[in-house]
Amino acid sequence: FGPGRHALRGAMLSFHADPFLADPQSSYTHWPDALVVIEDGRIAEAGPYARLRGRVEGAMPLAHYPDALILPGFIDTHIHYPQTQMIGAFGEELLDWLNKYTYVAEQQFADRAHAEAVSGLFLRELLRAGTTTAAVYCTVHPQSVDAFFEASERFGTRMIAGKVMMDRNAPPALLDTAQSGYEESRALLEKWHGRGRQLYCVTPRFAATSTPAQLEAAARLWREHPGTYMQTHLSENLGEVGWVEGLFPACCDYFDVYRQAGLAGPRAIFAHGVHLSESELCACHADGVALAHCPTSNLFLGSGLFKLFEARRADRPVRVGLGTDIGGGTSFSPLQTLNEAYKVAALNRTRLTAAHAFYLATRGGAHALYLDDRLGAIEAGYEADLTVLDLHATPLLKFRMSHCADLMERLFVLMTLGDDRAVRATYVAGRPVYDRTLAQPFRYA
Ligand code: GUN
Ligand code: ZN
Repeated sequence: FGPGRHALRGAMLSFHADPFLADPQSSYTHWPDALVVIEDGRIAEAGPYARLRGRVEGAMPLAHYPDALILPGFIDTHIHYPQTQMIGAFGEELLDWLNKYTYVAEQQFADRAHAEAVSGLFLRELLRAGTTTAAVYCTVHPQSVDAFFEASERFGTRMIAGKVMMDRNAPPALLDTAQSGYEESRALLEKWHGRGRQLYCVTPRFAATSTPAQLEAAARLWREHPGTYMQTHLSENLGEVGWVEGLFPACCDYFDVYRQAGLAGPRAIFAHGVHLSESELCACHADGVALAHCPTSNLFLGSGLFKLFEARRADRPVRVGLGTDIGGGTSFSPLQTLNEAYKVAALNRTRLTAAHAFYLATRGGAHALYLDDRLGAIEAGYEADLTVLDLHATPLLKFRMSHCADLMERLFVLMTLGDDRAVRATYVAGRPVYDRTLAQPFRYA
């Protein structure tokens, strides 16, 4: 954590409750002119500037952001760093897209230098988008994980990541075995989990590329190391659902494949969940797992429309975070991802309000990941990961903002028109790691 005491001044927004379960209008705190005091990488105090102005001592550095909004750093609950090089690959649905583009790109990560170069670029893209924490897939190669965590460590970001495990139905160069996948993952977990801010995630890609033996080995490793994460894909595409049901005839549905293997529980993150049944959603709720809603990917690959409000239904709410799913997804920007989430909700005849949306990208993501005691809000004691959005980032945004009646309209316009251009600055553990206005916008890497 960065040392010393400093502060940010500007409008601030932070959620303290879940707008899906309580009154959205009383789920957040908004101060039009706030002071956020940071000490040793954490938020020491946050409140109206008029009340806290006395905290600003003579030599204390103060960054003033007029025409901006200070938010908790965005949380991306599903993304693949090796797929940065193949965003926007044309014309296929999931299973053909994996074979034609994804598995080809991932083979390059046997090369440690390539993994290092892409890790650096990827982390800079996250920070430029205002994202400070993500659940990240590396590749099957252990060196892809070392390269990624080393890059994350240089920025000081809290990242959740792991080695992909696959022991069938993929090119031989990308396969491990139930045994080698377990051992290599365990060595990486022991090296990286809890080192600084890094968190390890056991990562069997999905049920179609892991044998039952590998799913069970993954579950054993996860169970043996409490506090670690597990991530995989679930019910994204109808062709995939049919394939998995054929591979696991003894299971009653797709989620049951993971449940029976021992891969369901707190800190399990399942990407997509587009085609889940009511009984699967009930099981997701009961097991405390998280779903990653990845609208740009689900639209780009033609996978389907995730039923966010069904998943979050108040009588059995499933934890849900927002995911970009690069490179099935088409933008690193959580703002652009929310823009598409709004449209997906609209096609489901529901309405994603700005309060629901910004909750999902901040505290909701932290809640999905069981990190809402330290991330996703601007409150005393929370880790000081912050995103500063510039309400005047483009001529159109500035003009449109001058016609907004209130905060919710400004937020909604930000997620409709905003993207990485709207991110004025990003703070990680209290340190300004990205400032869009500087000739050299990145620091500390
Ligand atoms: N299912 C299994 N692997 C992948 C992947 O890399 N991306 C997406 N979107 N779905 C998957
Ligand atoms: Zn994915």
